[in-house]
Amino acid sequence: MFRRAVSLSILTLGLLSRVALGDNPINAGFPYGSQKVRGVNLGGWLVLEPWITPSLFDNTGNADIVDEWTFCQLQDHNTAMGVLTNHWNTWITEADFSAIAAAGLNHVRIPIGYWAFETGPGEPYCTGQLPYLQKAVTWAGNHGLKVIVDLHGAPGSQNGFDNSGHRISFPGWHSNSTNVARTDAIIKRIASMFAGQENVVPIIAPLNEPAGFDGSDVLSVVRQYWYDSYGNIRFPYGTSQQGNTVVLLHDAFQPLSYWQGFQTAPNWQGVAMDTHIYQMFSQDEVSRSYQDHISAACAYGSSLSSFDLWIIVGEWTPAQTDCAKYLNGRGVGARYDGSYPGSSWVGSCNGITGSASSFSASYKTFLRQYWEAQVITFEKGSGWIQWTWKAESADDWSYQAGLANGWIPKNPTQLMYPSICG
Ligand SMILES: *[C@@H]1O[C@H](CO)[C@@H](O)[C@H](O)[C@H]1NC(C)=O
Repeated sequence: MFRRAVSLSILTLGLLSRVALGDNPINAGFPYGSQKVRGVNLGGWLVLEPWITPSLFDNTGNADIVDEWTFCQLQDHNTAMGVLTNHWNTWITEADFSAIAAAGLNHVRIPIGYWAFETGPGEPYCTGQLPYLQKAVTWAGNHGLKVIVDLHGAPGSQNGFDNSGHRISFPGWHSNSTNVARTDAIIKRIASMFAGQENVVPIIAPLNEPAGFDGSDVLSVVRQYWYDSYGNIRFPYGTSQQGNTVVLLHDAFQPLSYWQGFQTAPNWQGVAMDTHIYQMFSQDEVSRSYQDHISAACAYGSSLSSFDLWIIVGEWTPAQTDCAKYLNGRGVGARYDGSYPGSSWVGSCNGITGSASSFSASYKTFLRQYWEAQVITFEKGSGWIQWTWKAESADDWSYQAGLANGWIPKNPTQLMYPSICG
């Protein structure tokens, strides 16, 4: 209740000052809507994901370590901190920002967990990530890149996925108002940390992938949290003074039609929507032919081009299977080769993930075509951010490997198949 009352009063003040100014008050740090977002996620850096760095998990020798929570809970704290600190120092460095800029990209999205800001009693996370986010912002500035700060894990977990920090069977964020209030406070901190730096940090994404698929009670909490996040991000000084930071909401796995009219101009300014498009997390999708994958990608064009907010496809990949080791969780198999519970065999995972040296010429041609079909389609909206820049042993997902092996062009506007979507 208190939360709601505070943000509504801030909003009311914002609306009044906007009326007084009589103009669009946002001067975003990037011309969203007129220039395309082209970017990569820096996945698996400040939030661990077993499939991005399987060696960090395998090296523990403990099969129960399946996420960042258990990484710090189930091994010696100093050991975990040593491995993590080395990982933070080496997985992404300024050289990556330089390479990303040289590849013609303009944005990086950086996932970070709540535990970089605070941990509650009984929460075993290791901390120390925040200085790396601050370094990343400096490096982005040095290379002319824009940063999207993306809260990827909330207290209680907003989706139960390992990439929220804590792999659990049912998410515990939305059902606990203390967890939501803690998340609001973290977003306020992030907003004030980067207030006035919109030329380098033009966007804050207040929560990645809340589990809207779990039903309307989740969605109603998410909607209220988006209202509160608008106040927290668009008014980063805690007063009626607006900033220029854009709020990037996530669609919570709902069709875009669900969000039509939500936080739209003129009453709301500087709001964008993030949608994630993958084609491998069901039996139907992994069973698609190459051409079916490409057609399905192209078919997203009309819903993206007709949406009423800036719409960014903030996660997607040229990978078309769930073969990458641990993609479905450490110790969990793949639907594609039938090793996932309840799945049925479509094909062998050999030569599909792992090192690009094992990829056939025809597979690499498909990766190029599918990549281009998605880029063409996602630029019918406000642009795209591929998941992810690098992965230890899943070159099908790696932007860096795509550049090195030719299925991603060195300039993302230089397409070989510009008519692939017809
Ligand atoms: C809600 O979450 C807080 C931590 O944010 C925890 O201390 C508390 O026990 C939780 N409440 C319930 C009812 O689970």
